Amino acid sequence: MAKQLEPEDPRTWDMSEDAIMTPSGGLLWHWRAFRRRKQWRDFLASIELWLSEWQPQSNHLLLMGPSAGWCLPDSFLIRFKTIIAVDIDPLAHFFFRRLHGSALNQSGTKLVWRRTNLFRDLESLLREYPDHAVLFPNVLGQHIFHEPDETRLRQDIKTLGERLKNRNWASFHDRLSGDWNPALPMPASFEAIGTLTAADLAEKLGLSGEWLDHMTDAVLPPDTERMFAPWPIIPDWIHWVEFGSVAGIERGKRDER
Ligand SMILES: C[S@@+](CC[C@H](N)C(=O)[O-])C[C@H]1O[C@@H](n2cnc3c(N)ncnc32)[C@H](O)[C@@H]1O
Repeated sequence: MAKQLEPEDPRTWDMSEDAIMTPSGGLLWHWRAFRRRKQWRDFLASIELWLSEWQPQSNHLLLMGPSAGWCLPDSFLIRFKTIIAVDIDPLAHFFFRRLHGSALNQSGTKLVWRRTNLFRDLESLLREYPDHAVLFPNVLGQHIFHEPDETRLRQDIKTLGERLKNRNWASFHDRLSGDWNPALPMPASFEAIGTLTAADLAEKLGLSGEWLDHMTDAVLPPDTERMFAPWPIIPDWIHWVEFGSVAGIERGKRDER
């Protein structure tokens, strides 16, 4: 089993609502994404294909923690009549509009921006937007940087599925991240059914050295089909990202508005 890295101590960051640099987003993230999108080509193609296969039967989307949508294709966003984007980053809305504004204008997609904490306001957001499918695009694995209490962190992640009961929802999220030798070829994506613990995943991937566990093994219900893809976020550091979707049980046709 790979050794565990400690997440950076959130108390060393300014985590106020106005912070423009946080461990999970903000200025550094925008700069990095702007600079490295070409190197992320294969990972972005995996996201695009996976999103094209996610058909949640709703024309409305609650998009949780999208940042500027650096990894989200226009082809996905324009499928919706309305998108409610929820992010704590004060810069995300500006960059999101720069990246996707013209495609959204052409498709007539209405974008509403909410700068708030998705974990804190989940219930009220779900109440306010009862017919919206929900997507968590690479945000849940960032909760380790924002919630220093491990019990609360695990509880937030574990109870998410229950809180989203009867909703069509999907997530791709960091599972493990760590050092990578850039001379090696990128490993291939793979599919699995059933929960893989951090230890199982590290063993399956043959990981050695120190890896950061993003504590997201319980995001998806245990029997969910899932895909794992490597993301070379910077040349010598990769994230293993898990993708999965959950169909709301009782909504069916009601969502087709
Ligand atoms: C890695 S970025 C997501 C990248 C995004 N998929 C893209 O395509 O650019 C994570 C985002 O989640 C946001 N975030 C992290 N925790 C959050 C929370 N509790 N509530 C709302 N937004 C959050 C951060 O501000 C950041 O913009």
